[in-house]
Amino acid sequence: MENSLILALDNEDLTEIKKIVNELCPPINIVKIGPISFLNNHKELFDFLSTKKLSVMFDFKFFDIPNTMSNSINFLFNNNINIFTVHALAGETALRKLKNELDVFSKKTSEIRPKMFAVTLLTSFNQNEINSLNFKGTISDNVLNLAEKSIKSGVDGLVCSGEEISLIRKNFGNDIKLLVPGIRFNSNANDQSRIVSPRQAIDMGADYLVLGRTLTEANDRKSKLDDIINSLKN
Ligand code: C5P
Repeated sequence: MENSLILALDNEDLTEIKKIVNELCPPINIVKIGPISFLNNHKELFDFLSTKKLSVMFDFKFFDIPNTMSNSINFLFNNNINIFTVHALAGETALRKLKNELDVFSKKTSEIRPKMFAVTLLTSFNQNEINSLNFKGTISDNVLNLAEKSIKSGVDGLVCSGEEISLIRKNFGNDIKLLVPGIRFNSNANDQSRIVSPRQAIDMGADYLVLGRTLTEANDRKSKLDDIINSLKN
């Protein structure tokens, strides 16, 4: 169960990041880094995470032209990234090219290929937000369409909100990995719109849960994590 949990390190302060990681890892052994933690501390952050032997999810949600996306992969291999994210909206051509480059590089170097996860729609989006962007249809319609295109392009997994787990499982089966942010455990939604509890997400078929502010902003993070892990047992 602990292997399903991903700790979101959304903090600029390396000292604070180290404190949080030292408190919570183990039992958590996958951490997610993104612009907030990475851009200010990239070298020191990687050095620290490698001393802790943690798996790293690099959540930069690549969204660019095919050439730029597929030429970003050296970084992923060089830094032992286990999971990285792209936007499904980058489209099938970019995703397929990127997947192909990853396979070729991995074969050539015998290095393990980082897993590519496509973000369908951000968990902070609600129906009003997508209407204002002139997307047609409901959130579910758009998530299903983006999921289908991503799976066809060869992604390893999808990033979706808890509200779409069952829908994706029903339409695309159990092979595709599902990684779910917007997890809330006895706390407020912050800026997220489509949230579920850890237990709900696992029961519906999530493979990975991103634990962000619901854990990192708790007064007692360790006991909060114990509560979360206990909620997932039996
Ligand atoms: O603190 P909170 O639980 O809201 O953090 C969620 C984390 O997951 C953030 O780091 C955010 O960037 C990320 N994320 C998300 N929605 C997505 C993809 C990633 O909230 N669709």
